[in-house]
Amino acid sequence: MSCTVAEAPIRLLLDQHTIQSRVAELGAEISRDYSGLNPVIVAILKGSMPFFVDLSRAIQTPHTWDTLQVSSYHGGTSSSGVVKFNADLSDAIEGRHVILVEDIVDTGRTVSYLLNSLSTRNPASIKVASLLDKPSRREVPVPIDYLGFTIPDEFVIGYGLDYGQFFRNLPFVGVLEQVPSLPF
Ligand code: IMP
Repeated sequence: MSCTVAEAPIRLLLDQHTIQSRVAELGAEISRDYSGLNPVIVAILKGSMPFFVDLSRAIQTPHTWDTLQVSSYHGGTSSSGVVKFNADLSDAIEGRHVILVEDIVDTGRTVSYLLNSLSTRNPASIKVASLLDKPSRREVPVPIDYLGFTIPDEFVIGYGLDYGQFFRNLPFVGVLEQVPSLPF
């Protein structure tokens, strides 16, 4: 039997306090590593938005913001996934220190594609910050320089992560125990 998005049972994985403490630690680490470098932090839309904003507020060294959006197309199997830009950065990154901010690294295809693509624009450096890592699902190796949490192979929602565009607003990360039917 299916349930609505409002009724969907969610098992808590990372509570709000645990997330906020880890984000503060990552912000402190980035502040030390990038002191005097005026990095640009890049939100990979839409899932990284809450992490991106909280991380930015935890970074004590001057930095700028940019955003981009990509989509992954998966064929019959997830290993046939390809990635394409829906919306590019607004500013040039030549000579800039770039930190890509992602919600979760799953197969690794999105971050791998972005690292390859953006490195052709001659940034001074590119690093990756990801709230979550699901290493058991990796198909393409990617470096994660600033990682929040490693999680098991479960479909998670909340704190930016969605199922059918819902649940992004939750302040915690949880596992959907029953897949709801979507209104749209
Ligand atoms: P990739 O497979 O590493 O390219 O991850 C691509 C995207 O899949 C991530 O940025 C997320 O938006 C999405 N994704 C992967 N795993 C999950 C999950 O457990 N919940 C919600 N979205 C996910």
